[in-house]
Amino acid sequence: MALIAILPGDGIGPEVTGEAQRVLEALDLDLHFEQAPVGGAAYRAAGHPLPPETLSLARRADAVLFGAVGDPEFDRLDRGLRPEQAILGLRRELKLFANLRPARVFPGLEDLSALRPEVAGAIDLLIVRETNGDVYFGEKGTRVTPAGLRQGYDLMAYDEVEVARIARVGFEAARGRRGRLCSVDKANVLETSQLWRDVVIEAAADYPDVTLSHMYVDNAAMQMVRSPGQFDVIVTGNLFGDILSDQASMCAGSIGMLPSATLSADGKGLYEPIHGSAPDIAGQGRANPCAAILSAAMLLRHSLRQPEAADRIEVAVIAAVANGMRTADLGGEASTRAMGDAVLARL
Ligand code: NAI
Ligand code: MG
Repeated sequence: MALIAILPGDGIGPEVTGEAQRVLEALDLDLHFEQAPVGGAAYRAAGHPLPPETLSLARRADAVLFGAVGDPEFDRLDRGLRPEQAILGLRRELKLFANLRPARVFPGLEDLSALRPEVAGAIDLLIVRETNGDVYFGEKGTRVTPAGLRQGYDLMAYDEVEVARIARVGFEAARGRRGRLCSVDKANVLETSQLWRDVVIEAAADYPDVTLSHMYVDNAAMQMVRSPGQFDVIVTGNLFGDILSDQASMCAGSIGMLPSATLSADGKGLYEPIHGSAPDIAGQGRANPCAAILSAAMLLRHSLRQPEAADRIEVAVIAAVANGMRTADLGGEASTRAMGDAVLARL
């Protein structure tokens, strides 16, 4: 039996994880669910956005299904106590180093993209972003230059072990998809990227079935808009991946449809929709639960090794949307529950 920690969080988080749990329960897998508060909800209940009980549940669980955190009521709290700290704390404590963000345009939703529908329709890519290194974690500070100017600095650094393990995640993902991996760097100017590229090429020896290519990040940003259909899996560092993954999700268009996973080396993962707590529509039953439901599918695929069950969920979501089920973000009026029902009906 697998234990799944449900951390609903704030705003629409509980509404969308509720539907995702219903879908998981309907599959008749041997799953056990335990819930704990996180974010603003946990601050209210226990005085901290990531209370020890919540963290220990996340540690015990085989996987974590996370809703969203963020509550305008707490925007003026000290930064360390703000709801958003919970997600950073979980990433750090569970050593979640690989962020997977698939972006695709579902049949019937081409018009939501910022791109022309015929270009958008071809988007079906996965960004694998390293999340434990790079400029966010390197030595940083401010100092005064010899000329007397204030200067800020953040060291960009990756060692070969860090690059090799994220490269492997990228190769494995490509192997399970269309067999193409594009490594994005800036090797023409950055030493970090030179090493990145060398180590990715070394790792490729274990994946002769995957076609590896390399692209500079500026070109990748341009190609993502010009012809995103060329990409299957993109593997990249923390900074480049942060920017490219947001760009990819806007190219795909629908914030309520896109899931994500963040994995650790031992296969544990945290799965969450890419959207936030959407305080503007919270409590109204109008949130689109598909991103959370698709996050549950990723959970089955990556942490529980149940690819068939994951496929069933994804096919059901695609069918529900293709049949015209539309929540507010998709230009319709269906409720959260109605969308969940439509997915359940097609499982
Ligand atoms: P947001 O993603 O919560 O909302 C942006 C817009 O998209 C809103 O108009 C919202 O109504 C809509 N939207 C989002 N998800 C939707 C869904 N499933 N169905 C229908 N419409 C949806 O981003 P925003 O407004 O910038 O942030 C709100 C709060 O969420 C903030 O406190 C922010 O810090 C937090 N946040 C948390 C994240 C997380 O928990 N990982 C990620 C992003 C933001
Ligand atoms: Mg971001």
